Amino acid sequence: MSDALRQADSVIGGIPCDGRATVVRWNPSTGEPFVSIGQATEADVARAVAAARDAAPLMGELSPAHRATSLARAADTLSTHVDEWAMDMAEEMGKPISEALVECRRAVDVLRYHSQQVTAPLGEQFAAAATGSPIYTLRQPLGAVGLIAPWNFPAALPAWKLAPALAAGNSTVLKLSSAGALTGLRLVSALLDTDLPVGAVNVLLGDDPNIGRGLVSHPDIDAVSFTGSVRVGREVIGVASARGARVQAEMGGHAPLVVMADAELSDAVEAAATGAFASAGQKCTSTRRAYVASSRYEEFLDGLVARVSDMSTGPARDPATQLGPLVDAGARDRVLGAVREAASQGRLRFGGDVPSTPETAGGAYLTPAIVTDLPAEAPLATREVFGPALAVWPFDDEEDPVMLANRTEYGLAAAIFTNDLSVAERFVRRVDAGLVHVNSQTAGADVHVPFGGHSGSGFGTREQGREAYAFFTEDRTVYVDPAR
Ligand code: UN1
Repeated sequence: MSDALRQADSVIGGIPCDGRATVVRWNPSTGEPFVSIGQATEADVARAVAAARDAAPLMGELSPAHRATSLARAADTLSTHVDEWAMDMAEEMGKPISEALVECRRAVDVLRYHSQQVTAPLGEQFAAAATGSPIYTLRQPLGAVGLIAPWNFPAALPAWKLAPALAAGNSTVLKLSSAGALTGLRLVSALLDTDLPVGAVNVLLGDDPNIGRGLVSHPDIDAVSFTGSVRVGREVIGVASARGARVQAEMGGHAPLVVMADAELSDAVEAAATGAFASAGQKCTSTRRAYVASSRYEEFLDGLVARVSDMSTGPARDPATQLGPLVDAGARDRVLGAVREAASQGRLRFGGDVPSTPETAGGAYLTPAIVTDLPAEAPLATREVFGPALAVWPFDDEEDPVMLANRTEYGLAAAIFTNDLSVAERFVRRVDAGLVHVNSQTAGADVHVPFGGHSGSGFGTREQGREAYAFFTEDRTVYVDPAR
């Protein structure tokens, strides 16, 4: 159906860059050609940075009220087209439409939240200096910032980065992943349709790693906010820090879920099923490991298998679908390989195969895999496999659930199910995670609170909430002495 191909191009200084070489991507639900992505060149990177550089002083001079109105207007535009926006997401990267709608509404909320934060206090007034001068701190925009967003939350994550960056008065160059291009471009065009200066938002698309590298290493980019893999994140941190640029990186996880003997089992089963398999396990907060008190282990597994067997697999655009495809066939094959390897090291309790129903023909589907009896050091138990695979182990009274949860090099999200406050409190304080849930699933992020991890998962200040302004602004301590 190549006549129906959608087109996605970079946008520099408000103008789409057409006429570039293109790469076609397939709808992962059907395997049909879906979108043609114009590939930015290295010259486009330089032009995008120059456009942002020119817009930076204009952004800094805009009144806060103007910035707030622009973000609110973009939110209004997007909220009136949320169904089409979510359908673009479902078709281009395979997130089930029910989840895609929730994400698009969340991205609108992110814009609204930051439009309100623009007028919140950003500095502090201090007691006078020894000399008598009043002292206060001022938070100034950084200038032109580089934002690199992944495909797995193609509406929310570009919004997490763009909204606070613009609210704080910066101009931006956003690199979108090809698999989330159409969804990200809708957000960008809503922002470009406001009264922000030309060049406040520029977008680069393309699969050449030199696009991201060019952005991160560019001397005119004052800060870089990155979400993606550990491997690329470490490179971004190295390159940006080496030239003294501020950098924030969110790099994935391997979230544990602990089920204590006193847990509400049906709640824990529900949290494991949605935590591990929503969005086909393609969240950095997805549950990858479950540790269950041995007295409840078989009951938990039976409940989980029953719950997961009930989930309907099918095309992302179908409102009944709970399990959509992975982002593409390559990703499906990598996860399938990892699951097969784990099955040979442990025991495959459920799923882990390619479905062969008429609804799934041609798509990049994988049934959710539940693996048990896996050695603690097996690759699936320790490395992030970005897909629908969960490993489950029993644990005995003498084992420390915190030690089990802390077994990987990641530190993003963790959950514990228990009714014992002291057990929960100890877990909250000792588990290696930036986001801790007591009696709720590992995934999820409210717009008004900090989000991020440590160890292999995160670097730099947190995203979201008020915390986002610590990253996108520079603190200045000001002494004001009246002239004598
Ligand atoms: C969520 O758990 O709803 O890339 C958000 C990711 C995270 C966002 C997770 N940065 O999966």
